[in-house]
Amino acid sequence: MARIRDIITIPDKLLKEASLPVERIDDEVRALLDDMLETMYEAPGIGLAAVQVGVPRRLITVDIAPREGDEPEEGEEPPPPPEPDPMFLINPEILWRSDEVKTYEEGCLSIPEYFADVERPAAVRVAYLDRDGEAREIEADGVLAVVLQHEIDHLDGTLFIDHLSRLKRDMVVKKFTKQARTKAL
Ligand code: NI
Repeated sequence: MARIRDIITIPDKLLKEASLPVERIDDEVRALLDDMLETMYEAPGIGLAAVQVGVPRRLITVDIAPREGDEPEEGEEPPPPPEPDPMFLINPEILWRSDEVKTYEEGCLSIPEYFADVERPAAVRVAYLDRDGEAREIEADGVLAVVLQHEIDHLDGTLFIDHLSRLKRDMVVKKFTKQARTKAL
């Protein structure tokens, strides 16, 4: 049974550390992936890196499928009953980035309730191992390209706020540092 884990938030120093590659894909790794997926669904989020549950290993979960409770776009048919479409990526690596860029409003479960526009390559090609250890490649654009880049950034200790101006980033970090201190009292 998968269990929901605690998600760490800034200014936790672990979020700034590079995660280590996974060397053996065993039941322990698969159990962690299952926990990550449940934790991500519960949050709710569309992507999660293992370091966000305090395990600095190169593992991410992603699911960009529509969820129950998502509003249909104006003029669109109501969506069919949502089907989960989870992806598990082990040791993911970006092989190619498009020259074309796109701006998307990002958030992060480790920086709750803060959203900001981030510009990134519009499309990427990513190599990874799936949960059975099979080598796979995926070419992604749209929101999937955003999520993959955001999560792979986490594995290198980079947060989406690191793509913002220093002024904006410092403001956010300061706010969360103050909150963390208040909580500690
Ligand atoms: Ni994030």
